[in-house]
Amino acid sequence: MSQALHPMLNVAIIAARKAGSIINRASLDIDQLKVTTKSTNDFVTEVDQKAEQVVIETLLTAYPGHGILAEESGREHGAKNSEYVWIIDPLDGTTNFIHGLPFYAVSIALAYRDQVQQAVVYDPTRNDLFYASKGRGAFLNDKRLRVSKRTRMAESLIGTGFPFRKGDNFQRYVKMFTEVMQACAGVRRPGAAALDLCYVAAGYYDGFFETGLSPWDIAAASLMITEAGGLIGNFTGESDFMYQREVVAGNPKVYAQMVNILAPYTHVIKEGTAPAHPEDAALTPEEALIATQAAPAAEPAKRKAVRIRKADLPDTQSPQDSARRTHPPRG
Ligand code: IPD
Ligand code: CA
Ligand code: CA
Repeated sequence: MSQALHPMLNVAIIAARKAGSIINRASLDIDQLKVTTKSTNDFVTEVDQKAEQVVIETLLTAYPGHGILAEESGREHGAKNSEYVWIIDPLDGTTNFIHGLPFYAVSIALAYRDQVQQAVVYDPTRNDLFYASKGRGAFLNDKRLRVSKRTRMAESLIGTGFPFRKGDNFQRYVKMFTEVMQACAGVRRPGAAALDLCYVAAGYYDGFFETGLSPWDIAAASLMITEAGGLIGNFTGESDFMYQREVVAGNPKVYAQMVNILAPYTHVIKEGTAPAHPEDAALTPEEALIATQAAPAAEPAKRKAVRIRKADLPDTQSPQDSARRTHPPRG
């Protein structure tokens, strides 16, 4: 990047690198790891916690008046009413990390009035630093990122994440996976959503979809994608995805084709139980997410023609612009 980095981005990069050192050091001796189970198949290690602590300390030392939403400690730290909120996943891909599979990352986003403005995703195993400032492009190390130019779904490589928690709608996922798999050239599931989404920004994948993700998994990478010329939204192609627990991303052409496939599967999580924006729902983000996780899975929406109007696509409005909007009724 030739221009100077935004000071807030700089602080986020320092924080991500500090967390990365903790993770790299711990990866040398994974047998010593203390692993705790949050829920079935959902793990946390002391490395997640230490990495989160150092990220929060670094950010709040520089910006004590800012708010924090972090995966392991929720909204415990930072100001509660700030318009600036740092959204942090200290170690995305914990299951990979526990197994010594080198695909995981630190993800840090800064949202101002719900719009992601600064973003860092740091892969400490490759020393790959993805970063973006709104309106100033996305980068991997020194290289400007662009989404792929592939136009045909049939030639596309698609990333995804499999459901794994108790209560997830596995059958529904298998159906949509089958449809996507048959329509494209190949599907990959590396296991760290933040990094997977950055790989869309880098053009390695042409598209990505997953259900059940949380804001800390997607906030930073969503800015990489839009700044790299891609689109990100929910399964019906609307820009309201941050708290919707369904996300699709891709270059504009592949995104549209993926929305066509995935729209009938929108809101796997029962209508009305998807986590509304926490302020709207008068719940903390953690409460909203817990409520969603406890909700039973809904029946499929009937397949119907999906029109993708330009106005529905997040290139006319940034994905973060409408993170607070409630989704429109679907027929
Ligand atoms: C997980 C990873 C994984 C995705 C899960 C996430 P974590 O994050 O991003 O790829 O499939 O849904 O929870 O728990 O390792 O931070
Ligand atoms: Ca994560
Ligand atoms: Ca995590």
